[in-house]
Amino acid sequence: MMSSEQIAPVVAEQQAPHETHFVKQVAASFGKACDSYLAAARLQQQVARDALALLPEIKQGQLLDLGCGPGWIHPEFSKYCSAFTAVDLSEGMLAKASSQQRAMAYVQADAAALPLAAEQFDNVFSSLMLQWCPRPAAVLSEMTRVLAPHGQLIVSTLVQGTLHELQDAFATLDQHPHIHSFLPETALIAAASQLPGISWQFELRSYPLYYPDVQSLARELKALGANQIAGRGQTGLTGKGYWQKLAAAYEKHRTSEGITATYKVLFIRGEKYGR
Ligand SMILES: C[S@@+](CC[C@H](N)C(=O)[O-])C[C@H]1O[C@@H](n2cnc3c(N)ncnc32)[C@H](O)[C@@H]1O
Repeated sequence: MMSSEQIAPVVAEQQAPHETHFVKQVAASFGKACDSYLAAARLQQQVARDALALLPEIKQGQLLDLGCGPGWIHPEFSKYCSAFTAVDLSEGMLAKASSQQRAMAYVQADAAALPLAAEQFDNVFSSLMLQWCPRPAAVLSEMTRVLAPHGQLIVSTLVQGTLHELQDAFATLDQHPHIHSFLPETALIAAASQLPGISWQFELRSYPLYYPDVQSLARELKALGANQIAGRGQTGLTGKGYWQKLAAAYEKHRTSEGITATYKVLFIRGEKYGR
């Protein structure tokens, strides 16, 4: 495993200070959540399985799992490769994944500056990591750099419209931003399409999830380590009053199954041309 000290200079050179700060916060939040993540990760499990199903089952070659989290999906990789490498920014998440000892290597690194050689992977897989990266174009570029000719990459990421019901509810309290600003899918499609030597396909899917109440939604986001996703900000409200107002505003999104929270996921599929 590579230590964060080894990669720190590379990351620092390429990122603006506010980006470096955000990336550190993301690493810390996911690190804190490494024990609670899996039990809360119903969306993440569904999306990662849907993304994996886009890869051919060939049981050959090298696969890279970028933003692997606790590695719950790693037992399923044997159908898609002969060996894989797992990368994550968070030391805690990577430790969780490496306790399974399934990957050829566990590397702690920022996806925007991978300490990995070019063209060494037949498949690059990354589920629900890209929305946490301040420079998604740099991450997509790194993915294509490490991909071998004829290799495939599959990425899933949250885009604008995710948690729009929660955003609506917050908007009734004040005008401050409370939800992580997910990029529109058009921005990601444009960033990917600028990279040479790859043919791209994109698909947008909506995943509605249901919760008994808004507190349950907030608890799930916290357990996932998605603390940057939503916050009280400057509502000036605390405790019971805050939750009562938010819950009342969210009621219009209640169905017979509970309150709805919609997650919008862009699936990106790329195939590198041969030489
Ligand atoms: C929502 S979790 C997804 C984990 C796993 N792929 C899954 O589907 O359950 C996002 C993961 O991406 C990692 N991550 C976030 N930003 C990253 C970055 N810039 N480079 C590498 N990993 C990153 C986080 O530490 C976290 O483990």
